[in-house]
Amino acid sequence: MSHYPQADFYAAVALDSWDTFGPTVAAALAPWAGRPGVAVDAGAGTGLSTQVLASVFAGEVLACEPAFALRASLMTRVTGDPDLIRRTTVLPWDVDRMIGEISEPLTVVTAFNMFGHVGDDTRAAFWAWLGRWLTDDGVAVIGPIAEQDTGSRDERETPLPSRAVGRLTYSATARAETIDDTHGRWHLTWRIHDGDRLVDERSSSFDWQRAHPEVLIAAAAEHGLTARLTDDGLLLATRA
Ligand SMILES: C[S@@+](CC[C@H](N)C(=O)[O-])C[C@H]1O[C@@H](n2cnc3c(N)ncnc32)[C@H](O)[C@@H]1O
Repeated sequence: MSHYPQADFYAAVALDSWDTFGPTVAAALAPWAGRPGVAVDAGAGTGLSTQVLASVFAGEVLACEPAFALRASLMTRVTGDPDLIRRTTVLPWDVDRMIGEISEPLTVVTAFNMFGHVGDDTRAAFWAWLGRWLTDDGVAVIGPIAEQDTGSRDERETPLPSRAVGRLTYSATARAETIDDTHGRWHLTWRIHDGDRLVDERSSSFDWQRAHPEVLIAAAAEHGLTARLTDDGLLLATRA
């Protein structure tokens, strides 16, 4: 997904969910806080996930983001922070390219709000890559799993948190269409309001592959990894 038609809305609309999701991620990563080494953030978006990862993990961070417009925001976030600019590398890679290019021991690998973009073949290659490169004391964190499971939602329009930025309010609604047991399609509508006046509206749809925890846990096990689902809906994979 190198084109992201709502890229200019993303940082505003995602901010509130990261206000609550960020501390959850930070708590899950806390045991890896003092470890040396390299971390990868797959599908880093505008860098909200990268920022939380780097706030806990003190080593080098490789932030991979294939969408040009989101990567521009990611680069702005990284270059605007003296700590991030020193130890974060921004890479234009999707997961397929990322696992082809990165061949070195990894202490932390994260994939937030993005695993559903990735199909079966890429998932299989991802687990094999993790099985090869995750260090003995490393962790991979994927999630949130529940949000990726479009099949558990009805097909009503659901509002996402809205966010005022200056005079304007950015909002989005999401509708999950179930295609079959493993595939869904998200339909999103993005709106900008100035008070009651609608000043912009855009829609986008994309396919989503469900992430059944038991399937992910079995796939991880095939490559020598033990994965478990936390109460917060994060999948943590380690070398048992
Ligand atoms: C909802 S955003 C999440 C961004 C960030 N991780 C966060 O949680 O704020 C989904 C991200 O997945 C990325 N993405 C989509 N398909 C991808 C793929 N095949 N490989 C890597 N990233 C992908 C998109 O470009 C986008 O940045």
